Amino acid sequence: MQQFDLKELVQKNITDSNHGHLDDWLGVLNSLSDFMPGGYDLQRSVTFDGEYDSSDIEGKLKLLHPWRKGPLKLGKVEIDTEWRSDWKWDRLKDHIAPLGGRTVLDIGCGNGYYLYRMLGEGAKLAIGVDPFLLFVMQFWAINHFAPKESAAWVLPLGWEELPEQLPYFDTVFSMGVLYHRRNPKLFLEQLQNYLRPGGELILETLVLEGNASEVLIPEGRYAKMRNVWYIPSIASLVSLIEVAGWENVRCIHVTPTTTEEQRTTDWMTFESLKDFLDPNDASKTIEGYPAPMRAIILASKGPGNAEPQLGNHS
Ligand SMILES: C[S@@+](CC[C@H](N)C(=O)[O-])C[C@H]1O[C@@H](n2cnc3c(N)ncnc32)[C@H](O)[C@@H]1O
Repeated sequence: MQQFDLKELVQKNITDSNHGHLDDWLGVLNSLSDFMPGGYDLQRSVTFDGEYDSSDIEGKLKLLHPWRKGPLKLGKVEIDTEWRSDWKWDRLKDHIAPLGGRTVLDIGCGNGYYLYRMLGEGAKLAIGVDPFLLFVMQFWAINHFAPKESAAWVLPLGWEELPEQLPYFDTVFSMGVLYHRRNPKLFLEQLQNYLRPGGELILETLVLEGNASEVLIPEGRYAKMRNVWYIPSIASLVSLIEVAGWENVRCIHVTPTTTEEQRTTDWMTFESLKDFLDPNDASKTIEGYPAPMRAIILASKGPGNAEPQLGNHS
């Protein structure tokens, strides 16, 4: 049986990271003043109301820049993040199997924005993994404002560090991760190992216009991003997901990413989509590839190896 000491791994990934800003981030977390949670809303937004006794919370939270996923409202502070992540959530929430009472795993969860939205839909436990420590720190900052019984957790891990077999979740999300995989089929196969039979996958990724044989493997950067290896047409993506063993595969939404959905804000002051597109032709990236378009795909894990049926041999 595979040994997996989660506590040890989490501690190791934080302390061994030797990240130059780790002490500053931990300083921010330790300096957040006491918060008396009031009401909250996770169904229409991520909002934690309540009272705290200092006025510099906004300045402290800005030390955890760049804030990418949101928007978030923590006490009186409104965090206008780079992404309108709420738009993506609105596109999928009415199509997926209802999350009430479900345990959910979010691979590549960033600061955990969607974990709170999952709780808002009634999930009983929402666990995310993301190896990027700043996003984990942002989660801890957000969670400072959440009620103590909140059941969202971001673990500082890459999915590769999870046990290979973990078939306990009812729903698995993987959004914005597949195009970074060098071997997308292997990743799609691995995602099945986190679900119980009949569980649901929600996959969101970059796609292209085109027929089943079209896949873009960018040379160099794509929209200034490094490590983009796989941008398929929808038909090609659906077929790969089926080949990877998933059932009931269907695309529920396709949309070009706009500069209203992904943009520079006071909370993410670096370059954003506008700077990644051709200034003379917004249908192309700055490298000349088709501009970002994203699809949301749902799929189910099959029932597994059912017990052999006893035949009628009489
Ligand atoms: C494009 S963002 C998507 C964030 C979020 N899922 C969303 O849809 O808005 C990709 C995320 O995957 C994370 N990531 C990168 N490598 C990963 C890995 N090996 N395992 C899990 N997450 C990873 C990144 O740190 C980043 O937060």
